[in-house]
Amino acid sequence: MNKVKTQSTCFVIFGVTGDLARRKLIPALFDLYLRGHLPTKFSLIGYSRRELSDDDFKEMATEILKDLGHSDEDQIKGFLSNAHYVSGLFEDTDGYKRLLAQIVEVESQEFGECANKLLYLSVPPDNYMTILENISLSGLSIPCSDDEGWSRILVEKPFGRSTETAKDLDQKLMTLFQEQQVFRIDHYLAKESLQNILTFRLSNPIFESIWNSQEIEKIEVTMYEDNDLQSRGAFYDDVGALRDVGQNHLLQMLSLITMERPDDLSADSIRQARAKVLSELKVIALDEISEKVSRGQYQGYRQEKGVDPGSETETYFKINCQIDSDRWRGVPILLESGKALAESETAIRVFFRRQDCAILNGDGQYGGTNQLTFRLQPNEGINLHFWFKSPGFGLKLEEKTLSFLYRDTEVAIPDAYERVLFDCIRGDQTLFADTGEVMAQWRFVEPIIESWSQIPLIVYPKGVKPGEIKLNH
Ligand code: BG6
Repeated sequence: MNKVKTQSTCFVIFGVTGDLARRKLIPALFDLYLRGHLPTKFSLIGYSRRELSDDDFKEMATEILKDLGHSDEDQIKGFLSNAHYVSGLFEDTDGYKRLLAQIVEVESQEFGECANKLLYLSVPPDNYMTILENISLSGLSIPCSDDEGWSRILVEKPFGRSTETAKDLDQKLMTLFQEQQVFRIDHYLAKESLQNILTFRLSNPIFESIWNSQEIEKIEVTMYEDNDLQSRGAFYDDVGALRDVGQNHLLQMLSLITMERPDDLSADSIRQARAKVLSELKVIALDEISEKVSRGQYQGYRQEKGVDPGSETETYFKINCQIDSDRWRGVPILLESGKALAESETAIRVFFRRQDCAILNGDGQYGGTNQLTFRLQPNEGINLHFWFKSPGFGLKLEEKTLSFLYRDTEVAIPDAYERVLFDCIRGDQTLFADTGEVMAQWRFVEPIIESWSQIPLIVYPKGVKPGEIKLNH
């Protein structure tokens, strides 16, 4: 931590006037500042197309923070005391020269030394290659010396559009950076409630010993959202639900629930274990796709701003799959997600096999199974459903829940982006995807995307409950 505090750092956000920077990055950096987790010599530098002065940029950031309820002007001023803005197009080589000149100025005039550089690509994926090319040409990725002023790059998901494009992107990154400088973001990995899954599994022997196909009947990973596109029409229409959250968030949730015990708790071992289980996902054969995969689009989607009026992009998907490993062979796994649904809920449900305890059947309510739920939102926590004898003379069984809720703890859960940014600053890659994971994710997802045309696009009403979507099978 002390090392983090004392190292001068320039944090560059490409696309700083965009939605992600507004909603997540600037607020998360400010929260880190308030917690004292940012380096003492810290400069936020925004790069975007809009013509803004440093003062305009500071004003924009101040408004974002005030809208979120931060009212202490001195704190905001302190946070932005060293903020700068460089205006430029992503394809404009001169813009990168101006950016480098700005960094050099901060280094010489504010810090009096060479600074570490964090480069955050908060831009639509189509721009990655152009930006990387220009970073390379401008020398932005070059450290000051072998042991001074490292640079790191943060790349948002989706990482590529397919195996091939992900490989191209990786190759490009590897010409500029070493693997330990590349931080492939999947903010779900940084969610406190998701990180806890591994700890829960590995530290509670009662669960780890029954974590297999003999005892577990099925697993469901679901992410339902009540929101729609929220002004991200053009981006979303190009990407679709499976690339937006399936290839990354849902598969990472699945990896944590199903991965083998890592050799140790180092970033490499954990990432390798996640990649291994993802690579064991059984690719769905072409002739099974229409039976195992469904896709849908909410009514009115085609009229959203930025969306093609004839768009076939999915806003909902449901995939039935399996993991082909000794531990999981034969266990059905459901991956399901959609936008504009009745309510937002993200969870992983583990259903344990039915045991024949006929003597306890009581009045027939007893289902004979237990269920463990990891709830990511709302009401983050862990619930274990168990059976209970209703008080009274007869034998009547009721289902009850043992619960842990984060909201009952004293400590506020940090936002996932705070964790992402903090870990990148301190150089811990555990909560970032490595190239093996990304390739394993595309290996599973790509054949489905390539077969979309075989799967009817079901139109569902906005606000529907997921179970009420009329699927093709
Ligand atoms: C993003 C997706 O990665 O995750 C969005 O692009 C989605 O479409 C969002 O709404 C959900 O994140 P969270 O943290 O709000 O669950």
